[in-house]
Amino acid sequence: SFIQPPQVAWASGALADGLLLRKSTRIEDLPDVFADEHARQQLVGEQVVYDVEMLDTSPAEGELYTGVTHLYPGRVGCEYFMTRGHFHARREQGEVYFGLRGTGLLLLQTEQGDARLEKVFAGSVHIIPGFTAHRLINTGEEVLSALAVWPGIAGHDYAALASGFRIRVFEENKTVQAKEVQNG
Ligand code: PA5
Ligand code: NI
Repeated sequence: SFIQPPQVAWASGALADGLLLRKSTRIEDLPDVFADEHARQQLVGEQVVYDVEMLDTSPAEGELYTGVTHLYPGRVGCEYFMTRGHFHARREQGEVYFGLRGTGLLLLQTEQGDARLEKVFAGSVHIIPGFTAHRLINTGEEVLSALAVWPGIAGHDYAALASGFRIRVFEENKTVQAKEVQNG
């Protein structure tokens, strides 16, 4: 009688386990996140932008959280669907992302405002250092799923990025274009 561990289904990226927490983030939950706020308001409805499935494990110091984000394909205006993005409340805490399916980008930004983009695909491994904000962007036509592991004590600080990331990613002429922005 060996222990049956939680499992990621390779085809769907779905996390399977008895103890699962789920959170859906919809268009209406993301005011002022996309460049074209008017386009966002026109899409408000039941549309889910991303779902997070998380193992219900201990938040104690030294323990790790594990979750899978499923970021759906779509755009607000020309801007690809993306997660809200955050720094960790405990700034020094890092995180690992692992691409499961689909294609996209991981936007990383330091506290000094230096931003960079890493390609995300099935099998990609992303080491997010401490003091680095992170956001997933789905530039493909299928669901982008990525597994994340982070310290239970890390916490999320969304407010620190209220003025936005320095890079936005758009579809232009059917190609993926990253643009530097002055303010959000
Ligand atoms: O821990 C993480 O970084 C992820 O699990 C994110 O929380 C998840 O992708 C959702 O993004 P956000 O928390 O920015 O809404
Ligand atoms: Ni995080």
